[in-house]
Parts: sequence; C-alpha cells; structure tokens
Amino acid sequence: MKESLLSPAITIYGAGYVGLVTGACLSKSGHTVRVLDIDRGKLDSLAAGKTPFFEPELDHVLAEAIAAGRLTFAHPDDACADAPAPAHAPGAPATPFVYIAVGTPSTAAGSADLRFVRDVIDRLAQTASSGTVVVMKSTVPPGTGTAIAERLAQRGIGYVSNPEFLREGSAVADWYHTDRIVLGGQAAHVDAVATLYSDIDAPVVRCDITSAELVKYASNAFLATKISFVNEIASLCEITGADITAVAAAVGMDHRIGPDFLRAGIGYGGSCFPKDTRALDYLSRFKGYDFNLLRAVIEVNARQRMLPVKALRDRLGDLAGQRVAILGLAFKPDTDDTRESPGMDIARMLLAEGALVTGFDPIAHAHIDDEQFTACDTLEAALEGVAAAIVATEWPCFVSADWSALIARMSGPRIVFDGRNVLDQDAIHAAGGTYLAVGRPSTP
Ligand code: UDX
Repeated sequence: MKESLLSPAITIYGAGYVGLVTGACLSKSGHTVRVLDIDRGKLDSLAAGKTPFFEPELDHVLAEAIAAGRLTFAHPDDACADAPAPAHAPGAPATPFVYIAVGTPSTAAGSADLRFVRDVIDRLAQTASSGTVVVMKSTVPPGTGTAIAERLAQRGIGYVSNPEFLREGSAVADWYHTDRIVLGGQAAHVDAVATLYSDIDAPVVRCDITSAELVKYASNAFLATKISFVNEIASLCEITGADITAVAAAVGMDHRIGPDFLRAGIGYGGSCFPKDTRALDYLSRFKGYDFNLLRAVIEVNARQRMLPVKALRDRLGDLAGQRVAILGLAFKPDTDDTRESPGMDIARMLLAEGALVTGFDPIAHAHIDDEQFTACDTLEAALEGVAAAIVATEWPCFVSADWSALIARMSGPRIVFDGRNVLDQDAIHAAGGTYLAVGRPSTP
C-alpha cells in the first residue's frame, strides 16, 4: 500500500481508555494520528464510529477527528501500519512520534504485566526509523523505561516517559485541564514531545525517566491513601457515634488537605488504583523495602467492600435465600467499567452466602454476563421484593430516586445500605426503611 503523504505523524499502540483518549485529543489539537490495536473487533467498532466503552465526550471528539481525516485505525500487522510518518509529510512534525498506550494489568503476584509493552518495543526496535521518539503512556514500574531507552538509542530512537492522569468518566476534560504534564527523558526528546501539547495550559515538569514513572505511582498511591485514611476515620466514627460526612467536610476545609478523595464508603475500585498500589507494593518488596503504609492502604480497601455483607449478616442472620439488590455495578459513576468494582465483588460475596442477588446499573448493566446474577433493566425491578438494597456506586439516579416509592417495593426489614453515603437517611427512615451507611449514624 503506498504510504500517503498525509500519513499520520503520530502512531499510538493501544485503543483502550488511554490510547483512544490520547489519539482523539491529539487529533482534536490538529495532529494526524493512527491508532493501532491487535483487537480487530475493537478496530471494526471504531471504524463504524463506535467507542468500545462508555466515556462522556469521547464519541464526539473521535467522530470529529475521523471526519476530518486526522484519525485512522489499523492492526499493527497491516501493511505499513508500523511505518511512522515520513518527516517530510505536510503538517507532520519533524520527528515522528510513537505512543505506547497498551495495558499493563496485574499479574497474580501483583506485579505489572509488561508483556504487551515488550511486544511493541520488540517491534519498534526492528521497524521504527531513526529520529522517531517513543512516548510511554502506559503505566510501567519505575526503572522500566531506562532499559528501554538504552535499547532504542542504539537505533537512534528517542524515549520519553509521559504518564497520564486521566480519570475514567472525565478523561477528555482531564486531558485539557490537567494540573501538570510530566515528561521524563533527554532534553531534546522531552522538548519535541512538549510541542505536541502546546495547546494545553498546564506546567510541564521535565525530569529523568524513572522519576516520571514514579510520579504516576506516587500520585495514585497517595490518592488511594487519602481514601483508605478517610475510611479508617469512618470506622472510628462508627465506634464513637460521630458522622464521617461532617468530619470529612471539616477536615477537607484545611487547604493543606483539601476536600477531594475524602469521601468515605466501600472503597476504591477500577483499573488503576488497585493495580498501581499492588504493583508499587510488589516493586517495593522486590527491592527489599517494606512499604508498610501502602500495604495498610490496600488492606483497608479490601475490608471496606465486606462491610455491607457483614452488616446484612448481623441484621438478617444466615443470608442463604435472602433477596438482595446491588445498586451500581460500575466501579464509579459515568463509566461502564466494572473492573475491581466493589458492587460486583459484593454480589459475588452474597452469592457465595447463598443469597438471591439482583443488580442494576444505568450504564454497566449491559455488561453483566454472570449467570448467577440477575442484572435488571430498571431500578424498580431490581428492588422488587428484596429484603435489602446496597448502593455500591453513587449514580445520580439513585440519589434523586423516590425512595419512599422504592422502599414500598421492598419487603421485610427493607434495609438500605448506603455504600457511598449519598442518600437522605431521614427520607429512608420516614418511608419505613432501615438506613445503614459507612461511618454515619444508622437507623436505630
Ligand atoms: C484514577 C486517578 O484519579 C487518575 O488520575 C489515574 O490516571 C487513573 O486512576 P479512576 O480510577 O478513573 O482515576 O477514578 P477516580 O475518580 O480516581 O476514582 C477511583 C476510585 O476511588 C473509584 O472507585 C471511586 O469510587 C473511589 N473514590 C474516589 C472513593 O472511594 N472516595 C473518594 O473520595 C474518591
């Protein structure tokens, strides 16, 4: 296939959350981008203009870029898929860029699985032309990039660590309103990559590769620490009779602490915090360092999602045959991602106790294919005749729901466990329900 003069100046390996958002936003900024992925089903979906996952705004940005001819998709094995844009292509920057945005999931031991990264590096070490700059967006353990950079340098290929700080559900906004852009590598390569972000109003932190890699893990580990810390304080609230929503609000007013990531509940999930905290703990132990605080963060978080099951067992006794609804299956609102979702783990724990489980999620329900688990199409259907409901994700539709009507559909003790401390406990109590929460006074 003849390489068009308008060949993409930027190639991205990985059409997942990070790769697609990176490709869409770089295209929106005027660059020409080709996104490569080994999943042909995903490529077909994208070619049809459909984002393979729910991410507000992404559909629109992708559609614009595709229509403008600035964004294309291909399989790495397709002819010339690897050939970075010729430097002379009109509008292409002098240096072709190849982003790596493939997954680095957890291995069973908790370390970061780098096989997909290695596959791309092996390919690039053979095919990328001298002068190319490889930009690492995937989250890789500190110390990974220096070895890659040395290998690529032998072919005149540059390497920059450029960790991302995108949150699912607000990824496009986070791209353009980031607090900082972190670029680790040799100055010339870092300066070249910085030119791609000239339309983003954020400070650029220039540092070495390993420091840039550790910034990513330290940022996520600190945010996870805030969450587990506030959940520990919530446990003290349970013991002392204090209300965590009042305590956290006042603590967060200290400008040195800040209000964000101080919402107590059944803990963090998703594809990042669990994976990155485990990988940092693994790396620490592998290097002979005992990161006590981080291990405590992980242990506290694992305990939080057990709270609703323990509370129901305390109130209902044997859960076998009891009907329970899980409200919220995605790990947080504005996403359909159920990876390490507390709601899904709670459903599994209840099923293991012999409970009869229904579930509802306004977006993720379509992704539930667990045969033991009835994923209902409506909130009302999920609550019909159940003894207890657990709010596992703070979807707005649960907060604004008419709980007096919903509780009327329930039966027996009508327990509502508010796993995200977002419901009006007085309204639930007034409707004859029993309100339980995390670190808040429960219905007597
Ligand atoms: C996170 C980081 O925020 C982001 O910078 C990084 O790039 C990827 O990982 P994400 O996992 O998409 O983003 O979601 P986030 O909004 O950070 O929430 C993570 C988890 O923490 C969710 O399960 C959420 O429910 C939980 N959480 C968040 C709390 O339990 N309490 C809080 O106060 C905030």
